[in-house]
Amino acid sequence: MTTTTPGTAAGSTTAPGAVGTAHTRVEGRDKVTGTARYAGEIPFTELAHGWLVLSTIARGRIRSVDDTTVLAMPGVLTVLHHGNAPRVEGDFTSMIGVPPDPSALLFQHDRVPHVGWPVALVVAETSEQAREAAESLVVHYERETHDVAFRSDHRDDRTNLPTAGDEADVTDKGDMAAELAASPVVVDEEYTTPEEHHTTMEPHAVTARWEDGRLDVVDSNQGTTWVAGELTQLFSLDPASVRVRSEHVGGGFGSKRVRAHQVAAVMAASALERPVRVVLTRRQTFALGGYRSPTAQRLRLGAGTDGRLRALEHDSLNQTSTMDTFVEPSAGATRVMYDAEAHRTANRAVPLDVPTPTFMRAPGEAPGSFALESALDELAERCGIDPIELRVRNEPERGPVSGLPFGSRNLLACFREGAEQFGWAERDPRPGTRREGRWLLGTGTAGASFPSGAVPSTAALTAEPDGSFTTRIAAADIGTGARTALTLVTADALEVPPERVRVRIADSDFGPAMIAGGSMGTRSWAWAVTAAAGELRERLALNADIPPEGITVRSDTTEAIGGLSAKERHSFGAQFAEVAVDTGSGEVRVRRMLGVFAAGRIVNPLTARSQFLGGMTWGLSMALHEEATRDENTGGLVGGDLAGYHIASHADVPSMEAHWVDDPDPDDPVGIKGIGEVGIVGAAAAVANAVWHATGVRHRDLPIRPDRVL
Ligand code: MOS
Repeated sequence: MTTTTPGTAAGSTTAPGAVGTAHTRVEGRDKVTGTARYAGEIPFTELAHGWLVLSTIARGRIRSVDDTTVLAMPGVLTVLHHGNAPRVEGDFTSMIGVPPDPSALLFQHDRVPHVGWPVALVVAETSEQAREAAESLVVHYERETHDVAFRSDHRDDRTNLPTAGDEADVTDKGDMAAELAASPVVVDEEYTTPEEHHTTMEPHAVTARWEDGRLDVVDSNQGTTWVAGELTQLFSLDPASVRVRSEHVGGGFGSKRVRAHQVAAVMAASALERPVRVVLTRRQTFALGGYRSPTAQRLRLGAGTDGRLRALEHDSLNQTSTMDTFVEPSAGATRVMYDAEAHRTANRAVPLDVPTPTFMRAPGEAPGSFALESALDELAERCGIDPIELRVRNEPERGPVSGLPFGSRNLLACFREGAEQFGWAERDPRPGTRREGRWLLGTGTAGASFPSGAVPSTAALTAEPDGSFTTRIAAADIGTGARTALTLVTADALEVPPERVRVRIADSDFGPAMIAGGSMGTRSWAWAVTAAAGELRERLALNADIPPEGITVRSDTTEAIGGLSAKERHSFGAQFAEVAVDTGSGEVRVRRMLGVFAAGRIVNPLTARSQFLGGMTWGLSMALHEEATRDENTGGLVGGDLAGYHIASHADVPSMEAHWVDDPDPDDPVGIKGIGEVGIVGAAAAVANAVWHATGVRHRDLPIRPDRVL
């Protein structure tokens, strides 16, 4: 094995090859034939099944766990709870720089911080026995008064709670009051978004066992080295003794990290010296799988009559738990999209007796762009300027807050291309003028951005004696097509056809690698693969004969990525929507959507298009359907499952198209930026702006339900 850093590794960007051409998923056949196995369905001998018991109160203490009856039930092996569980160590930050999810500090105390807090694990021979026993377990609580009601006026009474520096996450320049006072046109509005859930198709699932002195974990997650690292820390283990695999993952969206279930499985596997599986039910994923906090966002825009911004303020508030501060950085997009003489952004959180919110697709930008891009539309209306022209006039030269140059910013190219394809020029700007029977029709647009980053990763490439190549990298394919993308990237970097490349992913034994998250997975992994390929080609030029074990080269991109210059690096996009509003029922139907993106070099157009369309569909769903409601009396969700939580179905999703403009990242060896999150950004605002154009009524609270439209 040799180590290399990139630098000589580039060169695949200009060669005609696999990258940029459409390829079906390399594991597609396995997935549709059922050959691909997921964490909850891989067989193990002596497998025992754990079932989590979740609290029914929102705040208080556990007085006792009556496990005697349950322990006598058929097949029951053990009941773990705060009275008998081993201690875990939670004082660390993980490889992505965040502390463990509070639910990972499982069974460590008798406090109950929210409805759905895990209070016990019942383990039995079969899953059915475990469930039966778990549902029979009697837990006595001491109830305390709780508060789960998120209100925007929390901004005035209990605020400013980010953990890190005891400072709210604030940026501030210029004299806001003076610029607002001097602005002939002002928009000052509040926008709200509700609690939203990831609802991954595959619920969270894990199997843990001790095998030859190693902890072997088969899990559904977004990063095996991330999960292995957290389990190592939590259980104070030797890093070499922990292996996590996650070969196929049925969706993550930010929710698939170490949570209570993996910790429970490891505790039980250690106690019983048997493999233990814990799978969350759909309802349990709603209770402890993480979610996006509701937000209340105040936008203040001041502009000249020409639409040029003089003042821009974005103040966002979200809820967090009493255990940890998770800030939904909704004002982040405003730091990138538009500039003004006075420019202020703030992200704040208020603690309530609720589960800790977490990353959910485009954390910050998804709700933030709804508020910001709606407010821009309101400004365009009040100035009498076309919304796209307004954005042209407010295109910044440099990062509005950072002052840094943009790596590449093709936002206006997206708007131009989108306007052309959507037929924007024919739009009558006046609202409420297009009617078709009982339907009012309208169109809307919005801008999008999401940070583009790369995180140091390692990859190993092996030249096999039969002329094929194997890539090993602890990447995760959460349904995005990452495995296929890395096959194409490896092929081009080696200048061989993709058929000669096999990519193995999602095994922490492959070494540290970025998680599938933050739109940074494919870029980070491709960089490591490209670096290793450059070195391997040099080695192969010197060695005519390949030994039976092959020739393996390992890369580490720490130095190369650390050497990147400071720039504003983002993917951008322009969203367009056409809606029809039923004046009788208040129902909003989206008729068509178009997204045009500047998101770096597109590795696989087939799966990239799916990524964008998936994001846009979610934006539609966010605009019109999604809303988790907490019952203030119980503190729990009303209908926390897919019967009660409404997501867009096929019938809701019309003609939808995603395109992209040429936008290779000049500082990336492959030209990649990242496409994971930008597809949802701005999509809800485009729909909301179209509803305004159809009806003349602004909707500043999501979702735009029929009862709000009427
Ligand atoms: Mo994404 S919310 O970084 O999985």
